[in-house]
Amino acid sequence: MRTPFVAGNWKMNKTIAETRELVAAMKTGLSGVGGVEKVICPPFMALAEASELLKDSEIGLGAQNLHWEEKGAFTGEVAPGMVKELCGYVILGHSERRAYFGETDEIVNRKLLAAQKFDLTPIVCVGETLEQYESNQTRDVVMRQTGLGLKGVSAEFASRIVVAYEPVWAIGTGKASNGKEANAVVKDFIRPAIAELYGEQTAQAIRVLYGGSVTGANAAEFFSEPDIDGALVGGASLKVEDFVQIVTHSKA
Ligand code: PGA
Repeated sequence: MRTPFVAGNWKMNKTIAETRELVAAMKTGLSGVGGVEKVICPPFMALAEASELLKDSEIGLGAQNLHWEEKGAFTGEVAPGMVKELCGYVILGHSERRAYFGETDEIVNRKLLAAQKFDLTPIVCVGETLEQYESNQTRDVVMRQTGLGLKGVSAEFASRIVVAYEPVWAIGTGKASNGKEANAVVKDFIRPAIAELYGEQTAQAIRVLYGGSVTGANAAEFFSEPDIDGALVGGASLKVEDFVQIVTHSKA
């Protein structure tokens, strides 16, 4: 049995003051919703504040990125040890980082190795663009991103990785995929790519999420699929009611 997992990716939204308000409302809204691993990922600037506020809470805290080096002359970057001081989780290889900041599968993999070294649970994002979807490349893209992104960690750490299948055409567009189609990608491409690296047992142990225009209204459709273990939520993670509804629906 895989424990359901829901993470909110706030992206570049919310100041420290706004974070204070939203975290307080999330704590209230999510109190008593057990049996789900729930995580919020505010921007770097607000992580210290959020970690203070979440001290006595079951809500986990994640960063949206990290640099793979431990320290040094990397202006503007944030080291994994700095993330670890505040967070237990980190999102890696989000499609916006791949598209706007040149992140390759090799870079995602270096970051994954850094997450392992600093004992951070990674949420690794994979997914095809609209062009790749329309030209039937989903299998190749998703298997390549999973295979190259996840390689080289210990078997023990591998089973802790969370993968998010996020078709790029569904992110922020209001056009979510559908449960059946997303489940098929997870079952036929993502878990087999993990099995190639770490064996069938690990492939079955890893939580795989769906992401892309998930809302309180459509979440249940995805969660009813056997290979989808939760969601990575963008826009709707900024709305308390929606996010609470999504977390509640994810319970097995
Ligand atoms: P969305 O974003 O829910 O706003 O589509 C999802 C994501 O980017 O992780």
